[in-house]
Amino acid sequence: MVKPVVAFGDPVLKAEAVEIEKNHLGLDSLIDDMWETMYDAEGVGLAAPQVGESIRLFVVDGSPFSEGEDGDEGCDNFKRVMINPVIFESSTDESVMEEGCLSIPGIREVVSRPNEIKIEYFDHNWDLVEEHLKGIAARIVQHEYDHLDGIMITDHIPAVKRRLLHGKLRDIGLGKVPVDYRMRLPKGKIR
Ligand code: NI
Repeated sequence: MVKPVVAFGDPVLKAEAVEIEKNHLGLDSLIDDMWETMYDAEGVGLAAPQVGESIRLFVVDGSPFSEGEDGDEGCDNFKRVMINPVIFESSTDESVMEEGCLSIPGIREVVSRPNEIKIEYFDHNWDLVEEHLKGIAARIVQHEYDHLDGIMITDHIPAVKRRLLHGKLRDIGLGKVPVDYRMRLPKGKIR
């Protein structure tokens, strides 16, 4: 089932999400719903807080980047469910790229992130997986991982620039920004 995507301004997006247990109620259907919601909104990643669940879980599918950009090796077959992920190593070299976020429609911001990360997580079968990610895959994962700590792309830009966005961000929360997927607005309205 496609769920409404929580829009900027909802406290669930600023909260630190909690780890879950293997027997977490409704986990399988939540993961199914997150895939459906992500594909419906044409996103490459979706974190549980974005559908209103403050738990440490996200899904990513980098296939829209499968060609690879700027010499990147691309994202072929980079489709993952990550449960209780922990990034335990990040490269010191970073690069910048413009990012968007399904919870902040119409806004794109240049974000600097480490080029490579090492991450440990449980997959959909609760097998513990360790991966070394680079390029776009590392970027997508870091963006979603941020959501679990209440961090959004607007937190990565200088305060001065963020202030300039104030009106636009308010309009998103008021549902004044056109989107072609369902959203849950801070006042609880679904549009
Ligand atoms: Ni996002």
